[in-house]
Amino acid sequence: MGGLPKKIYQINSLSSSDRSNRLLLDSGNLLFKKNSIDRRQNQEILTAETILDIYTDIGYDAVAIGPLDLAAGIDFVQKSYSHGFPWISSNITGPDGKPLFTQWITRTLGDIKVVITAVTAHPQKEYKNINIQPWQESLTKTLVTIKEKKENAFIILLSSLNNSENEQIAKRFPDINLLIGADPHRGNISPQLIGNTLLTQTAKQGKYQGLLEIIFGKQRIWGHDTTRQLADLQNKLGSVNWQLRRLKKQSKKNGNENKYTDTILRLEKEKEELNREIDTSKKLLTQEKKTGVKNDQYNYRFIGLKKNMPNDQPTAEKLILLNREIRELNKKNKQLENTSGNLSTLTQNMVGHSVCETCHETQAEFWKATRHASAYSTLNKKDKSLNLDCLPCHLTINPRKLDSQISPDPGYLSYPSALRSVGCESCHGPGREHSIAPETFTLSRNPEKALCLACHTPEHDDTFNYAPKLSSIACPSE
Ligand code: HEC
Ligand code: HEC
Ligand code: HEC
Ligand code: HEC
Repeated sequence: MGGLPKKIYQINSLSSSDRSNRLLLDSGNLLFKKNSIDRRQNQEILTAETILDIYTDIGYDAVAIGPLDLAAGIDFVQKSYSHGFPWISSNITGPDGKPLFTQWITRTLGDIKVVITAVTAHPQKEYKNINIQPWQESLTKTLVTIKEKKENAFIILLSSLNNSENEQIAKRFPDINLLIGADPHRGNISPQLIGNTLLTQTAKQGKYQGLLEIIFGKQRIWGHDTTRQLADLQNKLGSVNWQLRRLKKQSKKNGNENKYTDTILRLEKEKEELNREIDTSKKLLTQEKKTGVKNDQYNYRFIGLKKNMPNDQPTAEKLILLNREIRELNKKNKQLENTSGNLSTLTQNMVGHSVCETCHETQAEFWKATRHASAYSTLNKKDKSLNLDCLPCHLTINPRKLDSQISPDPGYLSYPSALRSVGCESCHGPGREHSIAPETFTLSRNPEKALCLACHTPEHDDTFNYAPKLSSIACPSE
């Protein structure tokens, strides 16, 4: 959500030259992060409405409905659909078996007809008024209709199914020229040819944009400017290898091996990925040499969102407005008695740092100088201290119970001030009993890695490295 103004800026700047030859597509799971959303007084609904608004403004051609988009009920999706939001799905039907949404759309790029259709994966929750038809049946039917009406069209499928199902689809339906997936368990997938279907996806949550440039040939069969792409990839690999050698040398020389660990790890990962892409390219090249026809070609790039990318101003303003609405909503929620209902579960057996401090002065002094102690005031400074998307990791919680994907409880709004920081008990566990009888009830001394990772997720801290980070926050002995 926070990266959206940069993402929109990037989309606009990539395609400013000629929008008539551009398609903006999304394979779904746009609106929500969990399977079920309470429609009353909920910041997730406000957030989803803002996302719809932003996507409408930028002019998406088609957005597939993913299972998570259904989390607030089918009528929530239908409402935006009836206002013109470009939702498509070939396999969501009503109880009578009739499709509820546009099953496919057509666009003309140059003199090529492009058809875009979509399949929705089965949600984890059952919905009363809708059926999700199995893709085997719905795709067979949809493709027959498309082929009847649009000869020689370029067919794109947007899919929220998992990657292995997408591979099956590619094998079974060679009429699909391009399949864009949205498997949450996979990151970026460089285009790979399966039969005559090009399968690809970009990582979830908008960290990357996938840019695929297609040069249409005479027939709907893939060729590829593989020679060029292979040369590019090999150049990149060369430069990564050079950097790795240099860093390894330096870290040996300085005897300061930790300093570069993060960068080295990142580069090793990049190297692995490049080697994989080079393999794919080489295979393609051999294949092309065999067939050698004048076909459709493509180039692609995954473009990471850079921190220094400018914001799209209108989008940034919408997010400021959203944050204001969320604050007002949660101010009200905080006043409602029932929302604090879960507070006691959330803070169970925790006493707050001021109690620990009475016996562990040295450690408390040290902790106060770390950023963990000011994690809540950090949110305050950003005017986000009433935002449920931010609060859990910036409070004293039991990380073992935190599922960062599940958007949290309104109970966080009423947190007592002694627990408004990443306090002692975030790392050493709830300490009520220990504080009364320290010798009988001992606490764990050394927090394990998984505990840190509950908050230090790749999304919020992409350079987290346990050993060096642990030593920088480890409390001293007496
Ligand atoms: C009444 C005094 C008192 C309070 C209050 C107290 N502790 Fe302790 N704590 C002790 C004593 C005494 C020990 C040493 C116990 C032992 O070695 O058996 C100890 C040990 C520890 C240890 C080290 C465990 C180990 O295995 O070496 C940690 C960590 C700890 N306390 C954390 C906390 C936290 C967090 C709080 C607040 C929730 C807290 N303590 C509150 C007295 C206290
Ligand atoms: C409850 C969530 C949470 C847990 C658990 C947690 N952190 Fe953090 N950590 C944060 C937040 C939030 C910040 C940034 C706070 C800020 O800048 O306002 C942070 C900051 C840090 C920093 C920068 C500190 C500084 O003073 O420069 C380090 C290092 C760090 N954490 C290491 C760890 C390690 C190691 C663990 C596990 C032992 C851990 N954290 C567990 C949430 C957490
Ligand atoms: C899953 C846990 C998690 C959530 C949710 C989370 N944060 Fe953080 N946040 C962290 C961690 C961990 C750090 C420390 C990262 C580091 O040291 O680089 C951090 C650091 C920060 C910082 C200080 C470092 C910086 O980048 O300037 C700010 C500000 C911040 N978070 C704001 C937010 C806001 C606003 C939200 C809600 C939109 C949020 N956080 C949600 C875990 C989280
Ligand atoms: C981000 C995680 C984190 C937080 C927050 C944290 N600690 Fe620690 N604490 C550690 C680590 C790591 C060690 C070192 C364990 C080791 O080296 O064995 C440690 C060690 C300790 C020890 C044992 C010291 C000794 O060697 O005798 C005590 C007592 C302790 N912490 C108390 C506290 C208190 C009190 C607070 C809050 C004021 C607190 N800790 C906050 C991570 C944390």
